[in-house]
Amino acid sequence: MRLKDKVAIVTGAGAGIGRATAHALGREGASVVVDDIDLDGAERTADEVRKLGAKALAIKADVSKVGEVKQMVERAVAEFGRVDILVNNAAYLDFSFKLFHETEAGDAEWEGNINTTLKGVLHCCRAVIPHMIEQRGGRIINIASGAAKGGIERMAIYAACKGAVPSFSRAIATELAPHGILVNCISPGNTATEHLLHFVETLPDLFKQFQAGIPLQRLGEPEDIADMVVFLVSDESKYITGQHFSVDGGASMT
Ligand SMILES: NC(=O)c1ccc[n+]([C@@H]2O[C@H](COP(=O)([O-])OP(=O)(O)OC[C@H]3O[C@@H](n4cnc5c(N)ncnc54)[C@H](O)[C@@H]3O)[C@@H](O)[C@H]2O)c1
Repeated sequence: MRLKDKVAIVTGAGAGIGRATAHALGREGASVVVDDIDLDGAERTADEVRKLGAKALAIKADVSKVGEVKQMVERAVAEFGRVDILVNNAAYLDFSFKLFHETEAGDAEWEGNINTTLKGVLHCCRAVIPHMIEQRGGRIINIASGAAKGGIERMAIYAACKGAVPSFSRAIATELAPHGILVNCISPGNTATEHLLHFVETLPDLFKQFQAGIPLQRLGEPEDIADMVVFLVSDESKYITGQHFSVDGGASMT
C-alpha cells in the first residue's frame, strides 16, 4: 500500500493503459478519480477499483474542454479533499493513417490531436498545479508515445503533439521543483490495448513492422506502463523529475 491516503486523477481511464493505471494506483491504496469521455467505461473502471478495496469516483470530462477539466478537478477536491497525483493519459487516437500532405488544417485528426493529445495535457496540468502548490507537493505523469521519439510514418500530427509532451513536462518540472512537485513523462511502445489490437485486423503490414522492432519480442501490456506510473508516483522515485522514460521492450534503442 505505497499510496495510502493519496488521491489520483487518471484521464482516459475507461479503457486500456488508463484503466490498468487506475487499477494499479487503487491496488496501492490511492483513491482514484477515473475520468473518461466514455462514462460507461469510467464507471466500469471505478467499480473495478472499488472491488480492489480503494475509493473511486467516475467522472465524464473531456480533457480538450477547459471548463470540464476545471469541474473535474473541483469535484475531485470536493470528494477526496486533495489531489496528489495526475496521470495525463487521454489522447486522440482516431488515426486516418494518411500521409501528412494528404491531410488538411482543420481535419478531425488535426483538431483532435491539438485539442486532446496536446491541449488536454496542458488543461489538466493547469487545473491541478495550484492545488499541488498549496499542498506543497504532488506528482504529474504525462503519457507521451514512442511516436514522440521515432519517425513513424502516417502519424505525423499525433507525433507532433506527442513530441511536445516531454518538452512541456521538462519545462514545468523545472518550474515546479521548488514546490516539491515532480513531473515525469512515459512513452509507451506498442501496447496491447483493445485499440491497438484493432490495428492487427485493419493494418496487418503496419502492425508487423511495429512488432518486428521490439527486442523483448512481445507487445507491451497495459500493466507494464501502469507499473512504471506507480514507481514514478511512489516514494521510491522521490529524486526523479523532468525525465522521459520509454517503456517499450527496448524498441526505442533499435
Ligand atoms: N496502446 C499503445 O500502443 C500506445 C502506444 C504509445 C502511446 N500510447 C498512449 O497511451 C495512452 C492510452 O492509450 P490506450 O492505447 O490505452 O488508448 P485507449 O483507446 O484504449 O484508451 C484511451 C481512453 O481515453 C479516452 N479519451 C479519449 N479522448 C478523451 C478525452 N478528450 N477526454 C477524456 N478521455 C478521453 C477514451 O474514451 C478511452 O477510454 C494515450 O495517450 C496513447 O497515446 C498508447
